[in-house]
Amino acid sequence: TTVYLNGSFMPASEAKISPMDRGFLFGDGIYEVIPSYGGRFVGFGPHIDRMHSGLAQLSIDPKLSLSDWQQIADTLIADNRAELGDNLGVYFQVSRGTDTKRGHAFPSNISPTVFGYAFAIGPEPVADKSKATTYAVVTGQDLRWQRCHIKSTSLLGNVLHYQQSYAQGAQEILLFDKDGNLTEGAAVNVFVVKDGVIATPPLSNKLLPGITRHILLAILAEHSDISVEQRDVSEAEVLAADEIWLTSSSKEIAPVLFVNDKPVGSGQVGDVWLAVQQLFSQHKF
Ligand code: PDD
Repeated sequence: TTVYLNGSFMPASEAKISPMDRGFLFGDGIYEVIPSYGGRFVGFGPHIDRMHSGLAQLSIDPKLSLSDWQQIADTLIADNRAELGDNLGVYFQVSRGTDTKRGHAFPSNISPTVFGYAFAIGPEPVADKSKATTYAVVTGQDLRWQRCHIKSTSLLGNVLHYQQSYAQGAQEILLFDKDGNLTEGAAVNVFVVKDGVIATPPLSNKLLPGITRHILLAILAEHSDISVEQRDVSEAEVLAADEIWLTSSSKEIAPVLFVNDKPVGSGQVGDVWLAVQQLFSQHKF
């Protein structure tokens, strides 16, 4: 596997980062995951915009432009496609950099550590009920911090929530804030459908502004016959929903069939999901 580290491409085995890197010591960095199918990226620009926004909020400047990132990503795909296949995710991570000692304050004289690698992902999801990858989820209180809009590499809160679902035999967790409103999952945004109306929580510091969420909402906005609401969604609404979907770059729009071992709606992949996945598959680029 060829990876990118600080300006160079090299075999993964040769890529070395100091234990004094603030990414390692503090999780002081930002990451991004961008899917590609057959060399075609989904939402490349919005993904890089979100990464730049996160880095700016942390006062980290890797001095790379959109076209620099595009070149790195294209090279990672080209160099790894023969080994890893045609469907690849690109992972980027920028940390504040490597210091000589551990100290909480931002050092002024270090440069960011920039890492990129490609990994195999599943085939592009298709609008076919029988081919959908479906999920069983549990519910829980959101115990993460109040800056969930930042795609920070400090993912312990998300990892613990994911593990909470995994330990119960599920593959994601729907999280609720202290007022009982849905935020997101450990690594996904969440949509619910009731009587044909689609709802998802509004953007805030409580959830990541998902690119898949963004693309899906933009597509649905062009269809006046489909009702979409960005508003608070209560736990009762989630438990009574006809359909629940998880969205993320690797899952696209994935139907949830069980919440806390109880079937969602009919317990089958829903008709609204099918209609929406059809639109998404046609329009996402
Ligand atoms: N996860 N919410 C959280 C907490 C996430 O970590 C992610 C993405 C999403 C969905 O965002 P997007 O549609 O931009 O992928 C929502 C990535 C894929 C990960 O950590 O692997």
